[in-house]
Amino acid sequence: MSVETVPDPVLREDNDAIIEVTSTAICGSDLHLYEVLGPFMDEGDIIGHEPMGRVVEAGSASNLSVGDRVVIPFPIACGSCWMCRRGLYTQCETTQVREHGSGASLFGYSRLYGSVPGGQAEYLRVPHANFNPIKVGDELPDHRYLFLSDVLPTAWQAVKYADVGEGDTLAVFGLGPIGQMSARIGRHLGARVFGIDPVPERRAMAARHGVEVFDFGEDTNDAIRDATEGRGPDGVVDAVGMEAHGSPVGKVAHQAVGMLPDAVGRKMMKTAGLDRLGALHSSIDLVRRGGTLSLSGVYGGTASPMPMLTLFDKQIQLRMGQCNVKAWIDDILPLVEDPADPLGVDDLVTHRVPLSEGPEAYEKFQKKEDGCIKVVLDPQAKPGTPGGESEN
Ligand SMILES: NC(=O)c1ccc[n+]([C@@H]2O[C@H](COP(=O)([O-])OP(=O)(O)OC[C@H]3O[C@@H](n4cnc5c(N)ncnc54)[C@H](O)[C@@H]3O)[C@@H](O)[C@H]2O)c1
Ligand SMILES: [Zn+2]
Ligand SMILES: [Zn+2]
Repeated sequence: MSVETVPDPVLREDNDAIIEVTSTAICGSDLHLYEVLGPFMDEGDIIGHEPMGRVVEAGSASNLSVGDRVVIPFPIACGSCWMCRRGLYTQCETTQVREHGSGASLFGYSRLYGSVPGGQAEYLRVPHANFNPIKVGDELPDHRYLFLSDVLPTAWQAVKYADVGEGDTLAVFGLGPIGQMSARIGRHLGARVFGIDPVPERRAMAARHGVEVFDFGEDTNDAIRDATEGRGPDGVVDAVGMEAHGSPVGKVAHQAVGMLPDAVGRKMMKTAGLDRLGALHSSIDLVRRGGTLSLSGVYGGTASPMPMLTLFDKQIQLRMGQCNVKAWIDDILPLVEDPADPLGVDDLVTHRVPLSEGPEAYEKFQKKEDGCIKVVLDPQAKPGTPGGESEN
């Protein structure tokens, strides 16, 4: 990971726009690029998929004007194909990466998702800018809007897919940014919410928002069952994904992939089961019979054994996938603009630093040092300054 000077992006299609980035976050998904997805990365790839900023150039078919303030969703969708018409934007048939059998292209997310230059940069070319960008007002600071790019809609979809609402119970594995917001959205929609994470400050943050928190341990699922009349919660969100702690065999395989020549690593990543399924197995064990399991954590590999007997016998419904961001924005936008801040968006970012300090910030986030929960990079801040937030 390094910060380099590259040529500025230019308009290529009529419906492109170029934005000057004012805030751009690091995501748990970026951490997969560090390890398991490394073989799909090429030197010079620009990563990042949670940006917002100002339009500085607008293609004639883009629906945008110079000066517009926009948040950019991480999936790149055309908005008009068969899939997009059904709200399945991450399956967009115009931008699907057929070479790798993948869904819609994503910003900054390796060959698997189209090698599209990402948003951890001063400028970003936004394709399909007639559909993707979310125009926002000038009044509120960046961090109120920034998480419309990924974290908030992903968490919203996770809770909707878990099918819980007023009076239901929800457990959330993993209290990173996605889990934090899934837990809060569960609370907002009236559910009783249990949150599980091994990191104390992540549990403390969730507890501030009315979540009943648990360390990840052998007795955790029993304790949550005890709190739900022995049945387990109605819905479970796995917001951990394939790099879960607590599965040493997986760890060795992950490190091995990192050391293989890329071509071999790519094949192994797609064919062998490299997932660390710790959180997934715990989720299957915990959800009540007839309940719903919602995976927002990213999984890869194809050979990982799944406990089919338990899944079938417990009659578990399983839903998953990348977030169809634009499908949920109308529900979420009023909440981030509400002065009462019902989802607690003001309490998520722990670090805001100049883009030039990106590599150190990645390390801190990956190692969970210095209380790091969510990092926002500021491309406008001068190196060595704390990175003040531009108000618009
Ligand atoms: N579906 C989507 O569209 C989408 C979008 C964004 C992120 N994601 C995925 O969501 C996941 C979470 O993202 P994030 O930004 O919150 O990342 P993160 O890495 O900050 O969060 C993961 C959390 O899981 C915890 N954890 C690890 N093992 C655990 C276990 N066995 N039990 C309970 N908790 C455990 C870690 O301590 C950490 O707090 C990642 O896999 C990411 O790729 C998916
Ligand atoms: Zn993300
Ligand atoms: Zn489409």
